Amino acid sequence: MTMRAPTLSSHLLLILLIAAAAFITRSTSTTDTIDRNTTLTGNQTILSAGGVYALGFFTPDGATDGRTYLGIWYASIPGPTTVVWVANRHDPVLNPPASLHLSASSAGARLVILDGNNDTVWTSASPTTSGNITASAAAQLLDTGNLVLTTDGSSAVAWQSFDYPTDTLLPGMKLGVDIKAGITRNITAWRSPSDPSPGNVTFKLVIGGLPQFFLFRGTERIYTSGAWNGDILTGVPYLKAQAFTFQVVYSADETYYSYSIRDPSLLSRLVVDGAATQLKRFSLNNGAWSSFWYYPTDQCDFYAKCGAFGFCDPDRSPICSCLPGFVPRSPDQWGQHDWSGGCVRNTNLSCGDVGGGGGGDGFWVVNRMKLPEATDATVYAGMTLDQCRLACLGNCSCGAYAAANMSGGGAGVGCVLWTVDLLDMRQYPIVVQDVYLRLAQSDIDALKTAADNHQRSHKSMLIIIVVATISGALLLLGALGCCILLTKKGRKKRESDDMAASLPPSTSGDFGLPYRPRIHQSQSPSQQQLADVSEEMGYNDKDVDLPTFSLEVILVATNNFAEHKKIGAGGFGSVYMGVLEDGQQVAVKRLSQGSTQGAREFMNEVKLIAKLQHRNLVRLLGCCIDDNERMLVYEYMQNQSLDTFIFG
Ligand SMILES: *[C@@H]1O[C@H](CO)[C@@H](O)[C@H](O)[C@H]1NC(C)=O
Ligand SMILES: *[C@@H]1O[C@H](CO)[C@@H](O)[C@H](O)[C@H]1NC(C)=O
Ligand SMILES: *[C@@H]1O[C@H](CO)[C@@H](O)[C@H](O)[C@H]1NC(C)=O
Ligand SMILES: *[C@@H]1O[C@H](CO)[C@@H](O)[C@H](O)[C@H]1NC(C)=O
Ligand SMILES: *[C@@H]1O[C@H](CO)[C@@H](O)[C@H](O)[C@H]1NC(C)=O
Ligand SMILES: *[C@@H]1O[C@H](CO)[C@@H](O)[C@H](O)[C@H]1NC(C)=O
Ligand SMILES: *[C@@H]1O[C@H](CO)[C@@H](O)[C@H](O)[C@H]1NC(C)=O
Ligand SMILES: *[C@@H]1O[C@H](CO)[C@@H](O)[C@H](O)[C@H]1NC(C)=O
Ligand SMILES: *[C@@H]1O[C@H](CO)[C@@H](O)[C@H](O)[C@H]1NC(C)=O
Repeated sequence: MTMRAPTLSSHLLLILLIAAAAFITRSTSTTDTIDRNTTLTGNQTILSAGGVYALGFFTPDGATDGRTYLGIWYASIPGPTTVVWVANRHDPVLNPPASLHLSASSAGARLVILDGNNDTVWTSASPTTSGNITASAAAQLLDTGNLVLTTDGSSAVAWQSFDYPTDTLLPGMKLGVDIKAGITRNITAWRSPSDPSPGNVTFKLVIGGLPQFFLFRGTERIYTSGAWNGDILTGVPYLKAQAFTFQVVYSADETYYSYSIRDPSLLSRLVVDGAATQLKRFSLNNGAWSSFWYYPTDQCDFYAKCGAFGFCDPDRSPICSCLPGFVPRSPDQWGQHDWSGGCVRNTNLSCGDVGGGGGGDGFWVVNRMKLPEATDATVYAGMTLDQCRLACLGNCSCGAYAAANMSGGGAGVGCVLWTVDLLDMRQYPIVVQDVYLRLAQSDIDALKTAADNHQRSHKSMLIIIVVATISGALLLLGALGCCILLTKKGRKKRESDDMAASLPPSTSGDFGLPYRPRIHQSQSPSQQQLADVSEEMGYNDKDVDLPTFSLEVILVATNNFAEHKKIGAGGFGSVYMGVLEDGQQVAVKRLSQGSTQGAREFMNEVKLIAKLQHRNLVRLLGCCIDDNERMLVYEYMQNQSLDTFIFG
């Protein structure tokens, strides 16, 4: 019996030893660096200091041949690993175990991946600094997700993973060109979920003219951010946000896009999705990645949807129109909604032939525009808009001009002029930028007349109203004066509305942000909560089987409740048109917050509607509760009247 105690304590010791051993096996992760004395082998990992990211070898899910890659992934999230960077996407390790070394030779310090035969599989690019290699040379994994190699203990970066993005842009990474360092940074989708090698879909900067970013599939342009005008990317007018800040740097040395997140605890990434051919932003929400921001979002986002000299507006039907002064090249095709042929001028330019009866050329301004593709446009940074106009008039092939630099919020300086077809224009409900179209004077006169007529008919409408309201011939003259004033005021009012609309609406999306800060993290109600509610109300779940949608799904469907998706509004709130991920068209009735019922009353009403819905034309698909938001999701059919959604 006396032997028992030591046995017990030796057991305890053994357990402690095993625990310690386990700790040591994993203790590679207590460091965040690889130096000349350390290697990373097999499934060892290192962790960034704050434990945000891990570096190690991985085999992608579904890679049955055991291909191994060196990658960086989020260390802090449970569930499947989300790889944000791959070192050797072209050169998988086929003979395990793989190992990572810091090799210091006369060629400089480099990271090297060896396979099980000690054959070199991958080497990092040669250092960008020329400092001598010292014993303190090391590669450190930072909490930003950047793996940084320094050669001499100083902070000079000899090589960093951020310079070689794969398919993911993390906060702080740059997308674009560094002319001095000779580095081009783009993001290219994985070939497939089991193969990190570069696929067909790339998001990158195209230089020339104004900076502009494109999503390519092979050599085909799928989507573009629109030209950078010094203030915004003109195809992403809702870019300004609270949660995210972005910048585009455009200088002689480098041109790039990058973003940062104000709240460092929020994890977010911008990814090229090869399967969907989309640029997507994912944010971590309650432990799961959600992606309610992606481009292209609607039909008008597809590159050059309306052909040359056409423009797109999803609020119009059809979505494509010719620019003022232009007509469809092929009216038949255009009528069949094949817009690829684009538009041609009504009247050829006179091209400086002012002596002719036509009276030369002039300009017609179109506003709220995504700038035409500007990679082949000509930019004069120093010019004023007036000089720009003259420059355009002086060059027979110039078809349009615009301010090249809108930074500072003013009228804009510099000049961008187009001697090529105007492609990929789109009109937004909010102020983006004005484009000055060069047209034959006769076309301008016709447009002016049309505009005047429009105004006149507007005036006579007012006259009729006023006459009907204020009877008495004596008042007529006074009323006339009045309505001229009113029309003027009305126009002013509309202008100021435009100004107000140019402020980022609080419900708008942008280059990747949750559309509003959450008050608390509560999502749509859980099944349990719903069950509780319906139980309280005397329903049981067999009564009605009504799906709930998460707010994220609704945001994606309605483009973050974009103004142009709104199809109606009333005292109850607003109705938005949208498309669910599976293509189902829906109308989302967003109840105004003022009329907010409690979750219980709301569910009560919803379940009543659901019970009755076999008698309705409009099918209720489900609902969504989130904080104070109450939404009803209906099936949408093109010819349905709005009343059905409001009252139906
Ligand atoms: C690497 O090991 C050598 C001797 O084994 C030692 O002198 C040197 O300080 C070590 N370097 C680092 C960075 O630990
Ligand atoms: C790490 O590798 C060793 C041997 O190569 C293996 O026994 C162990 O299960 C692996 N650990 C994990 C977490 O995969
Ligand atoms: C690889 O190199 C290490 C150290 O240099 C050595 O211990 C190992 O035996 C080598 N492996 C092979 C397969 O050559
Ligand atoms: C590198 O080392 C050489 C001698 O080994 C020395 O002449 C040179 O100044 C060093 N360069 C730097 C940048 O420290
Ligand atoms: C992306 O950039 C790399 C250089 O960093 C370049 O080799 C590659 O061709 C680019 N990809 C595309 C599709 O332009
Ligand atoms: C890339 O594009 C080519 C042709 O455009 C196609 O055959 C191939 O399947 C595509 N590859 C991927 C991974 O999508
Ligand atoms: C307009 O210009 C095109 C080509 O520049 C030419 O083919 C066409 O005949 C011209 N039309 C008129 C009416 O001059
Ligand atoms: C018109 O502008 C284009 C583009 O800037 C230029 O290549 C061409 O030489 C100009 N033509 C004339 C006559 O100035
Ligand atoms: C745009 O204008 C601002 C001042 O308004 C200036 O600081 C900036 O350098 C200009 N950008 C370019 C590319 O010329």
